[in-house]
Amino acid sequence: MIEHVAHPEWIDVERWLTETVVKPGPEHERALTTAQERGMPPIEVQPTSGKLLSLLVKISGARRVLEIGTLAGFSSIWMGQALPEGGHLDTCEYLPEHAAIARENLAEAGLQDRVTVHVGPALDTLATLTGPYDLVFIDADKQNNSHYLQWAVRLGRPGTVVVLDNAVWEGALLEPERDPANAPSIVESLELLGGPLFDATVVQTAGSKGWDGFALAIVR
Ligand SMILES: C[S@@+](CC[C@H](N)C(=O)[O-])C[C@H]1O[C@@H](n2cnc3c(N)ncnc32)[C@H](O)[C@@H]1O
Repeated sequence: MIEHVAHPEWIDVERWLTETVVKPGPEHERALTTAQERGMPPIEVQPTSGKLLSLLVKISGARRVLEIGTLAGFSSIWMGQALPEGGHLDTCEYLPEHAAIARENLAEAGLQDRVTVHVGPALDTLATLTGPYDLVFIDADKQNNSHYLQWAVRLGRPGTVVVLDNAVWEGALLEPERDPANAPSIVESLELLGGPLFDATVVQTAGSKGWDGFALAIVR
């Protein structure tokens, strides 16, 4: 597993940007606190990225959103809040204990009717869902990234927005042997994003989660 290194100044800048620009609400803070108190790994997106997801939902006018990887529901809250009246988010989580905490956090945010947490391996859940989704956010087991991208195409339509988190992984995509469990799958998924199915880019980020990035794409 790769070590994520967060430089102190990256963290300070992220905190300043979060307080000055992003301005998370008590429901976002609560989701983070609950996750910490219940001993969940601190692997949710940064608040700056949560806000970006929320803006992408609004900018794209998405009404149906699919998330793969729920954890405590932090990113689900950001996206769920951005949905228009009648919109819906389906989010997939493998671990029942994570799903239970996410449901609590989503209910505290008033989103229990707008977000459905599906428990089980995402590949099983995805096979039960019906598209088209307008936006797909992928943030789960990296080994299945390419399968999730193929599902995004299957459950999407031309123009569906796809966001794939952890696309830079401390630069390990240039040296996948640094993290044999994850990096080769990340590279494979980026190659898929660079192929004919998608129109894509990758934005590098530096912050509390270290040096990373996200891929942003639309289905062709
Ligand atoms: C990085 S966390 C998600 C963070 C969340 N998107 C956020 O930003 O708040 C990844 C989550 O995916 C879940 N996960 C891992 N493998 C999975 C699988 N095969 N199917 C569904 N969920 C999975 C993990 O249990 C974990 O809760």
